Amino acid sequence: MRNPPPLDVDALIDDPATRIIVCCGSGGVGKTTTAAALGLRAAERGRSVVVLTVDPAKRLAQSMGLTELDNTPRRVKGTRGSGELHAMMLDMKRTFDEIIEAHADPERAQQILTNPFYQSLSSSFSGTQEYMAMEKLGQLRHSGEWDLIIVDTPPSRSALDFLDAPERLGRFLDGRLIRILTAPAKAGGRSAFKLLNAGFGMVAGALTKVLGASVLKDIQTFVSALDAVFGGFRQRAEQTYQLLQASGTAFLVVAIPERDAIREASYFVERLAEERMPLVGLVVNRVHRSQITTLSAARSAAAAEELEARGEHPLTAAVLRLHSDRMQLAARERREQEHFTSTHPSVPVTEVSAMAEDVHDLDGLRTIGEQLGTGRPERTEASA
Ligand SMILES: Nc1ncnc2c1ncn2[C@@H]1O[C@H](COP(=O)(O)OP(=O)(O)OP(=O)(O)O)[C@@H](O)[C@H]1O
Ligand SMILES: [Mg+2]
Repeated sequence: MRNPPPLDVDALIDDPATRIIVCCGSGGVGKTTTAAALGLRAAERGRSVVVLTVDPAKRLAQSMGLTELDNTPRRVKGTRGSGELHAMMLDMKRTFDEIIEAHADPERAQQILTNPFYQSLSSSFSGTQEYMAMEKLGQLRHSGEWDLIIVDTPPSRSALDFLDAPERLGRFLDGRLIRILTAPAKAGGRSAFKLLNAGFGMVAGALTKVLGASVLKDIQTFVSALDAVFGGFRQRAEQTYQLLQASGTAFLVVAIPERDAIREASYFVERLAEERMPLVGLVVNRVHRSQITTLSAARSAAAAEELEARGEHPLTAAVLRLHSDRMQLAARERREQEHFTSTHPSVPVTEVSAMAEDVHDLDGLRTIGEQLGTGRPERTEASA
């Protein structure tokens, strides 16, 4: 296969100009693991780092001391060297509440926070988690406390969701239904009842029939309060976009060497280019390689077949079969990766091997970090 340029992860994390690294990719490919491993490596190479994780696996969270979901970074114990690693788990609901507290006067904030619709809906707008991750990133950057921020992205099916979220939430808040519902507030505080009586809109009338006036009023109060808070929504989304486009920001796309993940990675890379967001490279995670390159899959399988036919050396035959399967898997993975490299030949790539077990402690993260840094997955694979 045509080799992509190697991704020099160490140069990236050592560069003081790198301020934000965003780990993106489709669901389950290793975004959280990569973010945590990068954070640890950067800290152990001397930087002051914060990792913003989203939904880390429980054991990984515990190993980083992330036992409380309190929405503030905590120092991770057990790191080596002079740098510092801090980590936090994104608490979406808490972040949403904080935005409201920061942008509404206390009375209105209270009105929103205690509204039953807020309580049940604030966590279920599509894109909320993505948007809140961006909000939190903005807050961390603004605090100026860390010289490197590493951002994990939410477990969406599509990597693009992360970039689409602000727009989608914005559309929701600007939407037709919202405008109808918020009309009374904008029309000078007329009540929903008066509004309906005044004959405004079939939709509101129909909604009253379905929901009843008091429920509709709850919704209206909620939405108009929310509208006030997110009034400058587009402007805020714009600011976050600028942060993502800034030269100190680096996007790392994570994928596993399987068709869907590689395809998603390709889409994402194209989208980043359209948005003028700085991509630094692709991490191919969970690759399978074989150290024994002199024995091909075909010859190995043929030898196994021969032994099996003769009923001799069953253990040797089994080992040969395993080797053959492994070589075939490696070849398949390389082909998938080649799809990416043929369409994006200039995107640098680094690889991390599939470990024998889940990554759930600092040692595991260190091993991943080392591979990210050297781009050579083979060594640990054999020893795993
Ligand atoms: N190189 C690896 N070898 C073995 N296991 C791995 C490797 N990378 C990640 N894993 C495991 O795969 C699982 C998924 O990884 P991770 O949680 O980092 O993915 P994710 O992209 O963040 O997923 P989600 O989209 O759900 O957030 C975890 O159990 C993790 O320990
Ligand atoms: Mg994750």
